[in-house]
Amino acid sequence: MLRGQFITFEGGEGAGKSTQIARLAEYLRSCGVDVVTTREPGGSPGAEAVRHVLLSGAAEALGPEAEAILFSAARADHVAETIEPALAAGKWVLCDRFIDSTRVYQGESGVEPALLEKLEDVAVGRLSPDLTVIVDIPPRLGLKRIAGRDSASGGAEKDRFERENLDVHANRRARFLEIARSEPERCVVVDGSRKPEQVAAAIIEIVEGRLGPIADSVVRTDGRAGK
Ligand code: TMP
Repeated sequence: MLRGQFITFEGGEGAGKSTQIARLAEYLRSCGVDVVTTREPGGSPGAEAVRHVLLSGAAEALGPEAEAILFSAARADHVAETIEPALAAGKWVLCDRFIDSTRVYQGESGVEPALLEKLEDVAVGRLSPDLTVIVDIPPRLGLKRIAGRDSASGGAEKDRFERENLDVHANRRARFLEIARSEPERCVVVDGSRKPEQVAAAIIEIVEGRLGPIADSVVRTDGRAGK
């Protein structure tokens, strides 16, 4: 059985990752690919329980190191329970945030790179995304989009990480772009400030270009290879 492809989506707040994951999943399914969409923190029952602790801000008082440990514990469960079994079954996994979010957010909170590396090693072992799409957006625009989303949903509360100031968001953006520069074989940056359909078309082109024609690498649900 052909192992599935693992694609992660990264970027700042309001970049439109969830919309783009849904669009790519729809496209891949139309090509006959068996797709699993998932997210971090979360994506397995154990990790979803930890998600609430992290995003409510309940863990903030424990300090950035403890938060990094919790993100990594959630990731270890997510990898073991959801991601690895899906890839082994030939499914493609599209994941909203993964290791780069910890490198960027917890790195920006002051956690030492050596600890982050160790935690990454424990949580994911040798698993590495086949492709990481960094949806890049100026922080001011991302925060404006979040403000629009919140007022449309009756003023939903921002999460612990969305509440931070513009400088913090700008530093995170710079860190994501730095990762993209240092790992060009894995990462690609997409301009997320365009219309969603334009961003989606760019992502499909990248996926086709990087991972080869979709039809050749498809494990169909009926068990036949290719289209
Ligand atoms: P999201 O569902 O809006 O992406 O929210 C997840 C938040 O958690 C987001 O603000 C980024 C933050 N986060 C980290 O700080 N470290 C991590 O490792 C992950 C996965 C997310």
